[in-house]
Amino acid sequence: MKILVTGGAGFIGSALIRFLINETDHDVLNLDKLTYAGNLESLAPIADNPRYSFIQADICDTASINEIVASFGPDRIMHLAAESHVDRSVDAPGEFIQTNIIGTFNLLNAARTLYERDENDNFLFHHVSTDEVYGSLGEEDFFTEETPYSPNSPYSASKASSDHLVRAWGETYGLPIVVTNCSNNYGHYQFPEKLIPLIIMSAFEQKSLPIYGDGSNVRDWLHVDDHARALYLVATSGVPGETYNIGGNNEKTNLDVVSTICDVLTELRPPGQNLSYHNLITHVADRPGHDFRYAIDTRKINRELGWLPQETFESGLRKTVEWYLENGDWCEAVSGGYEQERLGLKSAN
Ligand SMILES: NC(=O)c1ccc[n+]([C@@H]2O[C@H](COP(=O)([O-])OP(=O)(O)OC[C@H]3O[C@@H](n4cnc5c(N)ncnc54)[C@H](O)[C@@H]3O)[C@@H](O)[C@H]2O)c1
Repeated sequence: MKILVTGGAGFIGSALIRFLINETDHDVLNLDKLTYAGNLESLAPIADNPRYSFIQADICDTASINEIVASFGPDRIMHLAAESHVDRSVDAPGEFIQTNIIGTFNLLNAARTLYERDENDNFLFHHVSTDEVYGSLGEEDFFTEETPYSPNSPYSASKASSDHLVRAWGETYGLPIVVTNCSNNYGHYQFPEKLIPLIIMSAFEQKSLPIYGDGSNVRDWLHVDDHARALYLVATSGVPGETYNIGGNNEKTNLDVVSTICDVLTELRPPGQNLSYHNLITHVADRPGHDFRYAIDTRKINRELGWLPQETFESGLRKTVEWYLENGDWCEAVSGGYEQERLGLKSAN
C-alpha cells in the first residue's frame, strides 16, 4: 500500500513513519514543509530505506499539493501537518488558520480529485486531530466521540475547523475519511518547546522550571509510539466516516508531571550537593484561556479495534528522560533560534 504522510518530520509524524517503515511493508512518502518543528534528523534511523521518500512542500501551496497527490497516488493520506503549539497560536494565530484550515482544505480537494480519478475502493483520508477540540472538563467526566466541540484556543479552534471540513468532504463528496482525536503525546524527538522536553532540558541546565498558574491543570498523557500504533490501526481497520478518540488513561496535573521528571532526573543524574531539581520549580503567569482538564474515554477504539497502550506513564517517562539525556546533539540541532523563552502571552497577532 502507498501511504502519504503529511507532517512526517514532526514529533508524531516521524514516530509514525519510523513505525511504518520498521513494522510494515508499505511505501511511505513524507510531505513536509520543514517549519521550525520539522526535522529530518528525526527520520535518520529509516532515511535510507528504499520504501521511504521525502518531499519538501507546503500544504498551503495548492498547485504543488495537487501535483504531488496526483503523481504519488496514495491509498492512504495520513494528515498530520499542522501548527501544533497552543502558546504560539496565542501569539500568532494567522499561521494556524493558514496551515491547519486552508492547508487541510487543499489536501481534501487534492484527495477528492484523486479518489474520483482512480475510483480506488481502498482509499482513506485520515485526519489526525486533538482532544482539545472538545474544550475543557471539570473534575469528572471524559471526552467521548459524541462530546460537542467547544474549542477555546486559536490552535484548538483551527483543528476543530479542519475536523469539520474533513467530515463535510466525507458527507458531501463521499470521500472516505476517518478522524482521530488524541490526548497529549510525549516521548523521544519532541521539539523542546513542549512541557516534558522543556522541563527535562531546563532542569538539566539548572534553569527554572516554569509551571503555568498553580500547576493543577490536568492532561492525559500518551506515549508517541502508542499513538503511532493506534493511528496505523485506525488507518487500516477504522470504519470510514467514524471518529476514534485515543488516550493513555494517564491523567496527571502539570505539577505531578514536573515533579516526576525531577524524581527521575535525581535518580539518573544526581544534581550535586545542596542542589535539588525540585527547587527549580517556578510558578509563572497562567496561559490565557488555559483549559482545566482533558480526559479521554477510549472505550470505542479499545472495543472496536482492540487497541491498548503498551507504555505506562512511568515507564514511558523514564525512557523519555533517558533519551533526552543521551541525545543532546539532536536537541541542539533542532532548537535553532528557540531559547526556551516563554511563549503565549498575547505578545503579537
Ligand atoms: N503533540 C500532541 O500532543 C498532539 C496530540 C494530539 C494531536 N496532535 C496533532 O498531531 C499532528 C502532529 O502533531 P506534532 O506534535 O507531531 O506536531 P509538530 O509541530 O511536531 O509537527 C508538525 C509538522 O508539520 C509540518 N508542517 C507545518 N506546517 C506545514 C505546512 N504548511 N505544510 C507542510 N508541513 C507543515 C512541520 O514542519 C512539522 O514537521 C498535528 O496535526 C497535531 O494537531 C498532536
